[in-house]
Amino acid sequence: MIDAYQRACQQRVDQHLSALLQTAEPALARLFEAMRYSVMNGGKRVRPLLVYAACEALAGERDQADGAACAVELIHAYSLVHDDLPAMDDDDLRRGQPTTHKAFDEACAILAGDGLQALAFEALTHAGRNPADPAVCLRMVATLARAAGPVGMVGGQAIDLGSVGHKLDQQALERMHRHKTGALIEASVQLGALASGQADRQALASLQQYAAAIGLAFQVQDDILDVESDTATLGKTQGADIARDKPTYPALLGLDEAKAYALELRDLALQALRDFGPTAEPLRALARFIVERRH
Ligand code: IPE
Ligand code: IPE
Ligand code: MG
Ligand code: MG
Ligand code: MG
Repeated sequence: MIDAYQRACQQRVDQHLSALLQTAEPALARLFEAMRYSVMNGGKRVRPLLVYAACEALAGERDQADGAACAVELIHAYSLVHDDLPAMDDDDLRRGQPTTHKAFDEACAILAGDGLQALAFEALTHAGRNPADPAVCLRMVATLARAAGPVGMVGGQAIDLGSVGHKLDQQALERMHRHKTGALIEASVQLGALASGQADRQALASLQQYAAAIGLAFQVQDDILDVESDTATLGKTQGADIARDKPTYPALLGLDEAKAYALELRDLALQALRDFGPTAEPLRALARFIVERRH
């Protein structure tokens, strides 16, 4: 389901990520090893792909989006390392390998996550990989900070942990998903648009509609896969949400209705791009990928 454009973007961001995750300092070798382990391990790179695709939709230069592509993946990787910790979801398997706290230890995993988060913001400041205009860069830093922080992803994780064992209604479940997963996906699209240097208000508003729909769809599909995929395909333990009595879309609506909802959200996303021409094709392909993916 991954096409040539997507593969090229994955390779591109992987090269930049690998360059960021190096140290010549022996005392930091273990920390960097844990950070590398948590990033360079076969993630789908959906968020960097969204950065590049949004930049492309507005006919921007790809090299202006490299910093943002790295930044969103680094935040995502940090969020997964912490999400898997015993105090959170307590998972042993991630991307087909032992989770970072299993491969290293808990303290190392906490620090690796902290390090990845800071590195994300550093990536947004590298000359040559970001827009030259400092005002645009500042806006990008603010966008990512807000999406990653207490009114974004971290807030969503707090709602998630506070909801275990409770029955959420659809509105509360949607709020949780929009925070914990949607916020970073929306930021990925906004960052790509800002990096293009061509983001007028109208384009940003349409891209935001697109991003809000796929951001929610992404977590709905993640919940669906927890029910109907298998551990080998997922690279993480199938059924973990059910075992922990997590509030999810299939738990609330049933599997069939959750699937129908994911497709409805995909269609909303595609509609939001109706005024865009062929440059938005990579964004359209990603909307389809997000609800068709099997892992
Ligand atoms: C999993 O994200 C966690 C969620 C936010 C739902 P991905 O499905 O993007 O995970 P990787 O990066 O491909 O491993
Ligand atoms: C994770 O949601 C969201 C973040 C890490 C912010 P999940 O807990 O559902 O993700 P998986 O299923 O462990 O990848
Ligand atoms: Mg979780
Ligand atoms: Mg989890
Ligand atoms: Mg999940």
